[in-house]
Amino acid sequence: MAFLNTELASTALPSNGSFCVKIGAAQVGLFRTAEGLFAIDNLCPHRGAPLHDGFVHNGAVTCPWHQWDFRLSDGACLNVPKVQITTYPVEERDGTIWINLEKDAS
Ligand code: FES
Repeated sequence: MAFLNTELASTALPSNGSFCVKIGAAQVGLFRTAEGLFAIDNLCPHRGAPLHDGFVHNGAVTCPWHQWDFRLSDGACLNVPKVQITTYPVEERDGTIWINLEKDAS
């Protein structure tokens, strides 16, 4: 599977913004930070909170329910060892955001 068009306009994801897109059964959290654009599995592995509603800081997102921190670049949980979320390659093409659900970006 190649990159898929999320059909989310680049302009809908401003700097320091986040958004959840649904593609099939997948819920993907999209984040734009000073370091770039990131795509992660949007469901927190603890109890399923929507991570795109979390607080973004220093390249990580803090889960809005119980404050686990996940690094956006590789999905590593920063406060619970061995917990990891899936990250996806993401890029912008012709004004929209595309992701590849097959490849883990980390
Ligand atoms: S649901 Fe995310 S830390 Fe509990």
